[in-house]
Amino acid sequence: MIKDKILVIGASGQIGVELTLALRKIYGNNQVVASDLREENELLRGTGPYVSLDVMNKEMLHVQVIRQNITQIYLLAAILSATGEKNPGLAWHLNTQSLLNVLEIAREEQIQKVYWPSSIAVFGPTSPRQLCPQQTIIEPVTVYGISKYAGEFWCNYYHHRFGVDVRSLRYPGLISYKSSPGGGTTDYAVEIYKEALEQGNYTSFLSADTSLPMMYMPDAIRATIELMESPADKISIRTSYNLAAISFSPREIADEIKKHIPNFTIRYQPDYRQSIADSWPQSIDDSRARKDWNWKHQYNLPEITADMLSNLAEK
Ligand code: NAD
Ligand code: SER
Repeated sequence: MIKDKILVIGASGQIGVELTLALRKIYGNNQVVASDLREENELLRGTGPYVSLDVMNKEMLHVQVIRQNITQIYLLAAILSATGEKNPGLAWHLNTQSLLNVLEIAREEQIQKVYWPSSIAVFGPTSPRQLCPQQTIIEPVTVYGISKYAGEFWCNYYHHRFGVDVRSLRYPGLISYKSSPGGGTTDYAVEIYKEALEQGNYTSFLSADTSLPMMYMPDAIRATIELMESPADKISIRTSYNLAAISFSPREIADEIKKHIPNFTIRYQPDYRQSIADSWPQSIDDSRARKDWNWKHQYNLPEITADMLSNLAEK
């Protein structure tokens, strides 16, 4: 039997670092090749192979896939929602062409499995605000959301047309302390913990009661691996699965932080990211993921807050 050999593209990012380390624990250090356009993240150094790779260079990517005998690809390179609005053309180009490059190589080289994340950003102002269903009106208003929605249909197309086993999750906003977030609208929920510890105060770029779907990184990593390890016949959705854990607002996270740092203060100064957040649902119905491959989240807001503050304080 051929041993799995995994390529993680965008491994130095917020998700990439933790996903690479988790995959190395399961498959063995040498079986997981980390790659990124930027330098290797310090947390990955010495833990396994790293190659410098631009996913937009299809030939270079193809060479690496063949040279490293890759059997699975995790594509994490993207421009996120807030940064995307600063350069819509670049966000569209990177987010869609990177996926097409990977899907095409997966088809040509008969790669066993591909993972590519979508986002709650596919939903727009006309989608239901509460418990937004898997299938509903989807009219995204950000370039990031448009690129993710288009990407979902490319995944579906390559699966049904060419038999590529590509799987996907619509992540909510992800909270983590190991590597920094890369330009999303939900990044406030990471920054706030750091600023609470360092400054004792935080200025939120979203208004007090802007509630959004969120998830702690350990849950997101586990969801990704559980989806990828599920038998193919359990995967009934080949666009992208709704995935949920909890929802909260800046006011609610601040109240939770005050239980640990009583003098913590928060101010609200909404900027251009407010309208992005206002276009997204406040909560997500992920019953298909729960039914198909038994998805269950673990972390709630008090647990996330306690864990974030103790780990960041240690850092
Ligand atoms: P990130 O910005 O932290 O990391 C992306 C990585 O991709 C970076 O290290 C960057 O250097 C790399 N990259 C960019 N262009 C590249 C290129 N041309 N070639 C190779 N690498 C390149 O993003 P993240 O938060 O880790 O997100 C990973 C994926 O998950 C993205 O598809 C994102 O849309 C999706 N997602 C993230 C969140 C979240 O809250 N973090 C939520 C929903 C979906
Ligand atoms: N966390 C991401 C963002 O805010 C959602 O995809 O862009």
